[in-house]
Formats: sequence, structure tokens, C-alpha cells
Amino acid sequence: MSGAVIIGAGQAGVQTAVELRAAGYGGPVMLLGAELALDALLMRGPHFYSEQAIALHQGADVTAIDRAAKSVKTADGQCFAYDHLVLATGASARPLGCPGADLDGVMVLRSRADTEALKLRLEAAARLVVVGGGFIGLEVAASARKLGKQVTVIEMQDRLMARAVGPDVSAFFAEVHRQNGVDLRLGDGIAAIAGRNGAVSGVRTSSGVDLDCDIVLAGIGVSPRTQLAEAAGLGIANGIVVDSTQRTSDPQVFALGDCASFPNPHGDGMIRLESVQNAVDQAKIVAAGIMGHEARYQAVPWFWSDQYDLKLQMVGLSQGHDHVEERGNRADRRFSVFYFKAGRLIAIDSINRPADHMRGRRLLAAGAAPITPDEIDTHFAARRDT
Ligand code: APR
Repeated sequence: MSGAVIIGAGQAGVQTAVELRAAGYGGPVMLLGAELALDALLMRGPHFYSEQAIALHQGADVTAIDRAAKSVKTADGQCFAYDHLVLATGASARPLGCPGADLDGVMVLRSRADTEALKLRLEAAARLVVVGGGFIGLEVAASARKLGKQVTVIEMQDRLMARAVGPDVSAFFAEVHRQNGVDLRLGDGIAAIAGRNGAVSGVRTSSGVDLDCDIVLAGIGVSPRTQLAEAAGLGIANGIVVDSTQRTSDPQVFALGDCASFPNPHGDGMIRLESVQNAVDQAKIVAAGIMGHEARYQAVPWFWSDQYDLKLQMVGLSQGHDHVEERGNRADRRFSVFYFKAGRLIAIDSINRPADHMRGRRLLAAGAAPITPDEIDTHFAARRDT
């Protein structure tokens, strides 16, 4: 028996190894991570892997998958044979494409190493320009304001976090960031980054505004890492295409987490989700599949983002909603927005209302009865003013 080979030792890969053992998988489990300083070790501690008989290979940079031979090769010439292969290759931060993007002080935030580098650099900096008003950009903007730095956020779209939240929530967060002193520039982009002695000295926005700064943080989204799967001839479309059992076009090969595009269990088409919850829940499905039990992914997606004193929690996907209800109090910075489609609750964005979020997760779960707008106060009434 060759065992299970997992490519990628991030959240999705580690969790798959854990779930395989929890499900009673008796064969070898090989977890291959390209990085030397593995997040895997920080996630679980060094003894965990030996206790669970999970062979963690650090610095194992997989360069090719041979599906006919059922093996993978690494850059340093190792070969790992598999019965089942799991692709947990994640996503990488999209780099800026403008002139000056290679200057010292242009940063992204994806790995722990990125976090440390940004922290260190921020200490000495006075002015930060953030490109992208998504989760990453806004979380960094809030932290940098707390440190007293001058912060500008440049967002291409006309509202913040457009990928994840509804327009009312975007508007609320824009106001909060402005109240906290962020220079927020919606509907603008970055034309060029200027440098002095090889380091960032400023940016020019697409609308022609020049801004001085010491750091440019790019928070413009991520791209799924699909190169290996593509070279191996697996189906790719905004990620590695899988079915609801997380199988790729090759039934011996699974994919999950940020790199996988799967059928939306609660709507139409295919989706790809970038969240811890998604990686953790899909790992259970992969493990079940490898054990020969047919499980299908039906989890309701949820996400969170902490900015200033605001805990933003999102459950469900609000895209395509045709009706909105709001409960709570914006002035107190505690409210929830409920999104409906064809008379049924599909998603909730909660700001400092964790009880609404938790209740929403239960009410939106697979098999739960649909909730109509009229029923909101019945289901969430007890928490109305708390
Ligand atoms: N100029 C300005 N804004 C841009 C540009 C650009 N050239 N390109 C993209 N944007 C904006 C998008 O409109 C979007 O609002 O950047 C934002 C990116 O937001 P996200 O897609 O949320 O990505 P990001 O914030 O980078 O987070 C990356 O990390 O923590 C996770 O859940 C998070 O999966 C997400 C990932």
C-alpha cells in the first residue's frame, strides 16, 4: 500500500491528514509542504505529527504529478507513490502589475513570514498605502491606524469588501474607516509606485494623485495555485475543478480548500471559497472519500473579519439577493443585515452581533427549513436589542 499523499501543508492539507487518522485510515499519510518554516508545525506542534504517524516532509516542493504511475516528484529528486492524492495547494497573493511593483517596501500579506515582515517594516514607517479594500487591506489599515500610522486605502470598486458583503455593510465600514482617519479612495487604482534608492517613496493613483509613503501593501486578492494540477491534465476553471465529493476529474485525486472550485450546494454554478471553515469542512469530505464512504459537501460558508472594535461575521453567500432586512442599531455599532432571495433567507452579515451569526449558521444549515422575511423577528427576536 502506497498510502495518501497530500500536497500542501497549510490549513487544508494538515486538516486532511488529521481527518484521515480520525476516520481510522491505517495506511501511510505523507504531508508535503514546500516551505521550510512550515505553518503546519505552528498549527499543531512538532510532536503531533509523529504521534499521529503523519510523515511531514518540509521543503518538499512538488514539481510534477504522474497520474499513470500514481506518484509525485519533488524538486530535490524525491518520489512519493500514492493510492490517493490530495491537492491542498492553496492560493497565492496576487502581485501588483504596475511599474515599481518590485521596489523594496511593496508587500503582500499571506504567510506568517509576510506578517512578521510587515510588522517589522511598519514599526519604522510613517505612511502606508494599501491597495485593495478587501479583508486583508482593511484589517491592515485598521491595525496601522491603531499604531498611529498615516493610512490611505485605494479601492478600484465603488465600495469596500464587495466580494463578500452587501452594499449597506460596505457603506458602514467606509464610514468607520474614515472616522478612524483612513484616507479612503474608492473607484481609484494604482498607476505606478515611485522609488528612491530602490525603496518605495510614493504612489501615483490611476486618477493622477501623488501620495508619499514608505510601504505599499497589496491586498488585491489571491489566485488559486493550479499549475501542478493543470500540468497533470486535471480540469481547471477558477481553481481545480472538483465534484461535491471533492474528487477532481481523476477519482484517485482530490482537491480542497482555497485551490478547489466546487459545485455550490446552496445555489447555482461552481464556487471557490477562501476560508478556514471551508478547508476544515472539506477535509472531512476528502477523508470520508478516501475511506470509501460517500460524503458530499453541504456546509454553509462562514467568514469573519476583525477591524477596530468591529467583529464582522458573515454566513451564507449574499450574491443575487433580492430583499434585505436589517435589525439592531448602527449607531451602537451592533446590527445584522439579512439577505433574502425569492423569499428565503440566504445570508447574514453581522456586526458585533455574534448571537445572530451563530443562530444563522444553524438556521441556514443543510436540511433546515427556509426562513422568510416575516419570520426574522421570531427567530432572532430574543436577541433583538442585545
Ligand atoms: N487596485 C485597487 N483595488 C483592487 C485592485 C487594484 N488594481 N485589484 C483588486 N482590487 C480590490 C478588489 O476590488 C477587492 O475589493 O482588492 C480587493 C481584494 O479583496 P479580497 O478579494 O477580499 O482579497 P484580499 O483582501 O486580498 O484577501 C485575500 O485572504 O484572508 C483572506 O479571506 C481573505 O481570501 C481572502 C484573501
